[in-house]
Amino acid sequence: MRLFVAIRLSDEVKDALIEAQDALYDRGVRGRYTGEENLHVTLAFIGEYPEAESVLDALSAVGFAPFEVTPEGMGCFGDLWWAGLAGSDALEVLARKVRRALAEHGIPFDRKRFSPHVTLLRKASGKLPGIEIRPVAMRVDAFSLMRSDRGRNGMIYTELGVVEAGRDER
Ligand code: 2AM
Repeated sequence: MRLFVAIRLSDEVKDALIEAQDALYDRGVRGRYTGEENLHVTLAFIGEYPEAESVLDALSAVGFAPFEVTPEGMGCFGDLWWAGLAGSDALEVLARKVRRALAEHGIPFDRKRFSPHVTLLRKASGKLPGIEIRPVAMRVDAFSLMRSDRGRNGMIYTELGVVEAGRDER
């Protein structure tokens, strides 16, 4: 199965991101918009791996204190357009801990540098217009192991387990 580690977003943050997607659409931007249920921040992409339980074991050792993030600004990787996040220092630290835990347990993952973002759409047409995202903060007090399956109408993400904040720092 195809696995990744992600932060799931609050309904308020998702609402703000959907408003931004609507504003892009109203400006004539077309592409494959991420559905509300699929908006997330990836901390590590594992890819095909058969043992979700052993990944969850590895992740359960990650300790972190809750922190806040706020969507802020947009950017693009080619025709993939994303929303950035203020508060990403703490996110970077968490991503590093997650990746270290995976590495220590011999679980492979994409080693590309972590760049905190929420994908808003893929295959975007045209140029990125200047659109403000409503700055709603959310508290990150957990992260999730997710499974990704190709559905008939796009990707289907399923949460396989959750690691909550508040354990001993490591
Ligand atoms: P993206 O949103 O920037 O495309 C599930 O595929 C999640 O893992 C997506 O959020 C995707 O990021 C991320 N991801 C990171 N590296 C990936 C890779 N090498 N292949 C596919 N998805 C990757």
